[in-house]
Amino acid sequence: MKVCRTPADLDALSLRREGRPLVLVPTMGALHQGHLSLVDLGREFGPVVVSIFVNPKQFGEGEDFESYPRDLERDLSLIEPLGVDAVFAPDVALMYGARGEVTVLPGNRGQGLCGGDRPGHFAGVLTVVAKLFGAVRPDIAVFGRKDAQQCLVIAQMVEDLKMGIRLIDGPTVREPDGLAMSSRNRYLDPAERERALCLSGALAAGRDLLVSGERQSAEVAAAMLGKLAAADQVEYAEVRRVPDLAVEEQLSGRVLLAVAARVGPARLIDNFVVDVSETGVTDAVLLDEIAEHRGSPGMV
Ligand code: PAF
Repeated sequence: MKVCRTPADLDALSLRREGRPLVLVPTMGALHQGHLSLVDLGREFGPVVVSIFVNPKQFGEGEDFESYPRDLERDLSLIEPLGVDAVFAPDVALMYGARGEVTVLPGNRGQGLCGGDRPGHFAGVLTVVAKLFGAVRPDIAVFGRKDAQQCLVIAQMVEDLKMGIRLIDGPTVREPDGLAMSSRNRYLDPAERERALCLSGALAAGRDLLVSGERQSAEVAAAMLGKLAAADQVEYAEVRRVPDLAVEEQLSGRVLLAVAARVGPARLIDNFVVDVSETGVTDAVLLDEIAEHRGSPGMV
């Protein structure tokens, strides 16, 4: 597994073999089982490049850019056994140059939720993802469904800018007690870790209410909010339509139940994606393309 610092290093590896699609799994390192599951998913389709880059532009002032965990050796030791073909680990100077003048701004999907709480965050994400796509030139990119709004904002960029890259959202990986895996969980002490369970608990309460027949968005959001009392600060508990993230009073079709809260030093997010119909409520995926891909691995 070669560690590449530049696009030229990657090109030299000639990873596009036998007509199979090249897959990119973008990460900021601090890898956990959730990332490893994205790598496994990507390997179903073709050779995999994992990018590891802590992107300064997506952190706001006072956020954890400086303290974000960085341990390249550990990350490499976790992904090497999975058969990753290459790691792209550029430095900030390569990604942003002397000035880094071009910024990609999100469309309507970047409004509200994390876009409201973290101004500039999605512009930073889109700008770096566009750069990673340009450097690696993947056919497929795999993102974690846990960052649901991120997935949908990136999907809008790919469509609007005609990037021609297939996006796949990998399922959220959870601890046995339901806590969604996150690089930021390591900031939690045992008591905070226990309190952090209120996020998945809130989502379960929202889904239960839908299952019981409630279709008013405000009622479902209120049920979720009611379960977040153990958090130090609730940032949002909302229900939005998928994929455009519109706010609807009456829920039907695919919806995103989303929460964000601060617990101790960590800002945590979690979500459930469900399909709401007259006959019931079922788990759903975020990006339509996934079903297509699953049906025909190896094809683009
Ligand atoms: O999800 C992440 O880890 C980051 O937001 C991403 C997509 C790698 C961009 O920096």
